[in-house]
Amino acid sequence: MIFNRLRTRGPRRPAAAPAGGCPYAHAHTVPEASRLPEPPPRAEHFTDPDEAAGFIRQFHREQPAAGDPVERVRAVLDEIDRTGTYAHTTAELGYGAKLAWRNAARCIGRLYWRSLVVRDLRHLSAADDIAAECFEHLRLAGNGGRIRPVVSVFAPDRPGRPAARILNQQLVRYAGHPVGGGFVGDPAGAVLTARARDLGWKCGEERFEVLPLLVQERPGARPQWYELPDDTTLEVELTHPDHAWFARLGLRWYAVPAISDMTLEIGGVRYPTAPFNGWYMGTEIGARNLADADRYDMLAEVAERLGLDTSSDRTLWRDRALVELNVAVLHSFQEAGVTMADHHTESERFLRHVAQEKRLGRDTPADWSWIVPPVSGGLTPVYHRYYDPVDPSLRPAFTARSPW
Ligand code: ARG
Repeated sequence: MIFNRLRTRGPRRPAAAPAGGCPYAHAHTVPEASRLPEPPPRAEHFTDPDEAAGFIRQFHREQPAAGDPVERVRAVLDEIDRTGTYAHTTAELGYGAKLAWRNAARCIGRLYWRSLVVRDLRHLSAADDIAAECFEHLRLAGNGGRIRPVVSVFAPDRPGRPAARILNQQLVRYAGHPVGGGFVGDPAGAVLTARARDLGWKCGEERFEVLPLLVQERPGARPQWYELPDDTTLEVELTHPDHAWFARLGLRWYAVPAISDMTLEIGGVRYPTAPFNGWYMGTEIGARNLADADRYDMLAEVAERLGLDTSSDRTLWRDRALVELNVAVLHSFQEAGVTMADHHTESERFLRHVAQEKRLGRDTPADWSWIVPPVSGGLTPVYHRYYDPVDPSLRPAFTARSPW
């Protein structure tokens, strides 16, 4: 193994290829055909020993039952020396994933970080298996409406062997595409819709059409696509408690927001295929997905049905329509028996989380602009204070999708 030669400590970096591209350009002998060299692994896929040791120490510090870290740190560093990376124990993976949630500075829902269900699927790297387990993820997370926070962790990137990628932003998302002169569906799904159609997916003309799952096994490979089975996509049709006409708008939303385009980074190991979900807070749907001008853009229609005076911004017709839209979202999820938080309750829970962490001697990094809800900010307690600064290098973390 090539890694046997990398005995020195410090961040592992593959030797730079000589100018000209081919690492063997100046070699006098041609390697045997059966042992043709692979391109050198990318630096990103090597595990940084300092990050690894730091995580193992944190794990042992916070989980005293794990005992003294010294031996485990030594074993991990040795494994990195030999292979360029290391395998987490199941307990390390489970706790690391929870820490990644605890560290998510944009998430208001962190009070329940300890309850995350971590599915250890590291033995899976084939697209068919990944798709099947993503569907199982949605069933487990949906849980008939009692949403459970779940993360499914598939094979990590390894030196010379990058893992598969899910190309969707979320496991469930709606298609969006131009039809005639207009646009149908969710503009946020437009890129994936185009990609899926290129691959042969037949898209209808409905406004809420669930996209297929696209999985790419390796760089340059043709992505495979999978239609989501019906029993994986719990959806709620939107009605309003006081306005019968609201149902006729034909609005709906899915129950499980499962982010699938972020990398779970734990102790220097990158898991780029690690979809995770919590439950929705109503405003994500009512004040963003259905309201934003570059999403479903429903405010004018709702205002018109409410009979509001839309002749001037000063009548606050947008604001009034927005509140009714949010009432409808919360009401409908409640009626359907699907877990959803309102922004008042979730804000209060978040401050409880901050206080609880403080008692344990820990900071709660938080990004004010993401934590404060997009409606009625000043009515929620999270608005009226600042938070511990966010250190972008904090790990474990869910980070933007890493390159192949
Ligand atoms: N805001 C995103 C959406 O509306 C989901 C982000 C994650 N949200 C959550 N509640 N866990 O689809």
